[in-house]
Parts: sequence; C-alpha cells; structure tokens
Amino acid sequence: MIDIAIIGFGVVGQGVAEALIEKKELIERRIGRFRVVAIADSKSSVVGEFDLLKAIEYKREKGKLWSDKKAMEIIEEIEFDVVFEATPTNVRDGEPGLSYIKRCIEKGANVITSNKGPLVVAFKELQKLADKNGVKLMYEATVGGAMPVVKLVKKNLAGNEIKSIKGILNGTCNYILSRMEKEKMPYPQILSEAQELGIAEADPTYDVEGIDAGAKLVIIANGLMGMNVKFEDVEINGITTVTPEAFEVASQKGYTIRLIAEARRDKLRVSPRLISLNHPLAIDGTLNALQIETDMAGSIFVIGKGAGKRETASAMISDLIDIYEN
Ligand SMILES: NC(=O)c1ccc[n+]([C@@H]2O[C@H](COP(=O)([O-])OP(=O)(O)OC[C@H]3O[C@@H](n4cnc5c(N)ncnc54)[C@H](OP(=O)(O)O)[C@@H]3O)[C@@H](O)[C@H]2O)c1
Repeated sequence: MIDIAIIGFGVVGQGVAEALIEKKELIERRIGRFRVVAIADSKSSVVGEFDLLKAIEYKREKGKLWSDKKAMEIIEEIEFDVVFEATPTNVRDGEPGLSYIKRCIEKGANVITSNKGPLVVAFKELQKLADKNGVKLMYEATVGGAMPVVKLVKKNLAGNEIKSIKGILNGTCNYILSRMEKEKMPYPQILSEAQELGIAEADPTYDVEGIDAGAKLVIIANGLMGMNVKFEDVEINGITTVTPEAFEVASQKGYTIRLIAEARRDKLRVSPRLISLNHPLAIDGTLNALQIETDMAGSIFVIGKGAGKRETASAMISDLIDIYEN
C-alpha cells in the first residue's frame, strides 16, 4: 500500500485529489494500491482514515479541513511514502515549500511538487538530499503544466546533449500578446479583460514582468541541462511595454511578438522577441510551447496547456506512476 500526503490543498492539491479518485483504477493497475493518509492547507488538516471526496467537499464548503494540526506537524508525525507538495510559489526564499520538501526527503518520502520556488532557490541541494536519502524529487508540473517536458528530456531524449531550450512558458503573457496582435488593443485594456476572465491574477506582476517564466527557465537549466544557475542569472524583460504598434511593424515584415524564455549554455533570458509568423512557437492564447535543440535528435517541439487544475494534476499523476512503476 502506497501512503500519500497532500500539502497545499488549493487548485492544484484538490485537482490531484480529484484525479486520484477519478483515475484510481487506472493508477492502481500501474502501481498497486494507494491511499491518501494526510492533507494539509495553510491552517488546517485531516489525517488517518477518511473519505477523500468528503475532504474535498468539506474544504470547498468551509475553506478549511476539520483538524487544526499544521502542515509541518503532519510531516513530522505522520508516516507516508510520497507527498504531493502544492503550496504557493515564492522565488525569494522558496518557503514554505522548501522546508516542507526538505523535511519530507529527510524522512525518506518521495516528493512530487508543482511549486517552482523551492527548485529555483535550492535545486542542487534538494536533488543531492534526495539522492542521499534514496528518494525521488519529481517536478514535471513546475514547467509547462500538462506539457510533458521534464520526463521528455530526461527519458525520451536521454543520450542527447541539450544545446538549448526556448519557448513560451507563460500562458497569461501569451494570451495578452496574441490578443494585442489580433485586436490592436493596448496592454492595460487587455490585461483588465484577462483579469475579469480569470486568465490573469489580480496582481499580475509575476506573470507580466517575466518572473514566472524566469523561474521556469532556472528549473529547465538546472534540472534538464545540468547547469548550476540562480534566478539572478536570468536576464528578464516582461511584456508591459509592448504596444499594438510594435505588432503592426513586425507583421509587415512577416513576424509576430512573443515572450520567449531561452536557456542556452552561455545565456538565460526572458524577453519579448520577434518570431516568424509561420514558426511553431508563434502560437495563440494561453498555450505553452517549447523548442528543444539536441545534438542527436535535432529540434523537438512540444505544445500544450501550461496551467489548469486537471492539466497540472495530469503532470503530477504521471510523476506518481513514474516513481512506483519503476
Ligand atoms: N494553478 C495552476 O494551474 C498551477 C500550475 C502549475 C503549477 N502551479 C503551482 O502549484 C502551486 C499551488 O498552486 P495553486 O494554484 O493550487 O495555489 P492555491 O490555489 O493558492 O493553493 C495553495 C494552497 O497552499 C496552501 N498553503 C498556503 N500557505 C501554506 C503553508 N504555509 N502551509 C501549508 N499550506 C499552505 C493554501 O492553503 P489555504 O487553502 O488554507 O489558503 C492552499 O491550500 C503553486 O506553487 C503554483 O505556482 C499551479
């Protein structure tokens, strides 16, 4: 029996719980029996034997769970084999996720996280700690949501030298830019409409200033290209100064403008760049896309949904199956 803990029970944590219920039969066919033995959010929790669906419904109704035990107490006191860590991203110090992940690894639990913060701040340290403790640190959901990138590079492209990885890693920015291109509306107007539609956050800074894409680039460089870089090593320019006029000039020459994150061995940068209109990275809407340049396989492209409850759960469930199937 695989015992699972879920730390962080918002959109992603609940999405994972729903997928564990919906896909129980499929997952158990691949990895054997499992059960969720603990869930924690910022102020409450549930442990022991409980009905997972009831926990989801209770949280949705009351905004909390029924016990007062804190997440760290759960990690210290409860035995589990694997944790889904889905607390908010903080690229300054990685907390609270960093301490949770460290403690789980030290206890000998496998970690599946959707949280970029701990990996941006301490990727090498966490990977070393996981290796030392003989557990897995899985992070498919941190880069590109449902779009398979981490396992694609680590498994399917194993044996290749990864020369560069570049593309679109922030769906909110891509949505704003593609609407600016099509409708010639100025940035502030599109942003406020995107906020009304729930595509942009009330505080859009993380997305539109390029911080989110920069964080993902650090994970790509350290995790998939064997580099040793910090967030400060990424040159970042966001999309706040892009104008509809710039799109007009670009389109006359056969180009569009997209926020491109690029990791090369000599440079990491996030910036609005000209992309040929018929290039595979010239995608519209909230999609993500990456071009992976390799020495043997040549150029590989992936396109997919970079965020969303079910999409992120898809990446995290694939990590779970990957750990236990092997
Ligand atoms: N949403 C997506 O599509 C998506 C996609 C890929 C990656 N991610 C990443 O996944 C993580 C979770 O995202 P989300 O959308 O699920 O966020 P969310 O809806 O805001 O949920 C965050 C959860 O973490 C809990 N939390 C906050 N501080 C905590 C603490 N100190 N200790 C324990 N739990 C704490 C919150 O508790 P309360 O419920 O009590 O507030 C909430 O349950 C983030 O790092 C995000 O960047 C999200």
